[in-house]
Amino acid sequence: MFDLNQFIADLRASATERSRQAMQDNIKWAPGQMTLPHNHMLGAVIGMYDGREDNVFWRKVPNPERFQIEAAGGKAIGSGDVCLLGRDIIHSVINPVSRISGAIHVYDGDFFNPHRSMWAAETLTEEPYEQSRVSSFRAPLRPA
Ligand SMILES: [Fe+2]
Repeated sequence: MFDLNQFIADLRASATERSRQAMQDNIKWAPGQMTLPHNHMLGAVIGMYDGREDNVFWRKVPNPERFQIEAAGGKAIGSGDVCLLGRDIIHSVINPVSRISGAIHVYDGDFFNPHRSMWAAETLTEEPYEQSRVSSFRAPLRPA
């Protein structure tokens, strides 16, 4: 049986030596919620405890003719899965299910550091990170 408290304890134990500065958050994704591509400039451990989270991983395009980033892969994670994000990861997230999904996110530093970026939805140009803009999108979902 899945034990949320043990899961959180395991995530804490897996944090790096910078754990004194680590930040954790219980992230709730609304049905159909999606984020702009963004970076954290931090390593992260994501542990899903309910629902799903689809990650798209992006990479910078050297000498771009149009978009500054391109999709480079993805990973679907569901309840009980753990996903590690490296410090240089650019990702966007979608909750593809028609109910709230939840995950514990542990970052190995200050989540609100000022050097983060996001990429505009239409132009994929890099901009300073703004939390209120990064996760304000919601896809229309059909009823289950
Ligand atoms: Fe993120």
